[in-house]
Amino acid sequence: MKPVIAPSILSADFSRLGAEIAAVEAAGADWIHFDVMDNHFVPNLTFGPMVLKAVRPHTELPIDVHLMVQPVDALIEGFAAAGADLISVHVEACPHLDRSLQLIRAKGKQVGVVLNPATPASSLECVLHQVDLVLLMTVNPGFPGQAFIRSVVEKVGVVRDMIAGSGRPIRLQVDGGITPETIREVAAEGADTFVAGSAIFGAPDYRDAIGALRRGAEAMAAGTMRVAV
Ligand code: DX5
Ligand code: ZN
Repeated sequence: MKPVIAPSILSADFSRLGAEIAAVEAAGADWIHFDVMDNHFVPNLTFGPMVLKAVRPHTELPIDVHLMVQPVDALIEGFAAAGADLISVHVEACPHLDRSLQLIRAKGKQVGVVLNPATPASSLECVLHQVDLVLLMTVNPGFPGQAFIRSVVEKVGVVRDMIAGSGRPIRLQVDGGITPETIREVAAEGADTFVAGSAIFGAPDYRDAIGALRRGAEAMAAGTMRVAV
């Protein structure tokens, strides 16, 4: 699968959100990553469906909504109606995960499932058949600019093999501490979809920043059999 670079608007200038999204689109981004936090599941608070609806006209790129909220089900309809293309929910936040994933599908959206760093790959076994994307957190969710947790790299390879075994075209996303250096480690293990906040919005030139990430991902993807399939 072609690498996807998804800037997280968590690190954008919130006073100019529409312009920031348009700027990363012009700079070569593939998707926009929209981090939703509730000060309950994670210790921070961001934005909801009204903000998604407001920014939706500012880009033609797919918008990937990462829900870090609990409970989650009641919010799925609102984000679907506001223009999400893909909605991801955390295993740790969903006591009835199958129901939550079915709800996203029923709204006609792409379905994502997310694992925190301490959650084992085996928790995906019963849901791989119903998802389009697996997101492995490479930080503990809640804040931009945290250090990459290297112990997750091995899990990326394990999940890549699980996805290959499923026979389904599931994207494998990583999120947290992704830089032009760390992206190589996860791309080598088979990640194909990369969220980056501070490495893009904290850089002086968004095009250069996205280009550096893409070169890192492509260099390692080309060197591994995992991503070649
Ligand atoms: C973390 C969020 C990430 C975060 C990434 O809870 O889910 O999307 O914004 O930011 P960086 O790339 O700065 O680690
Ligand atoms: Zn995220």
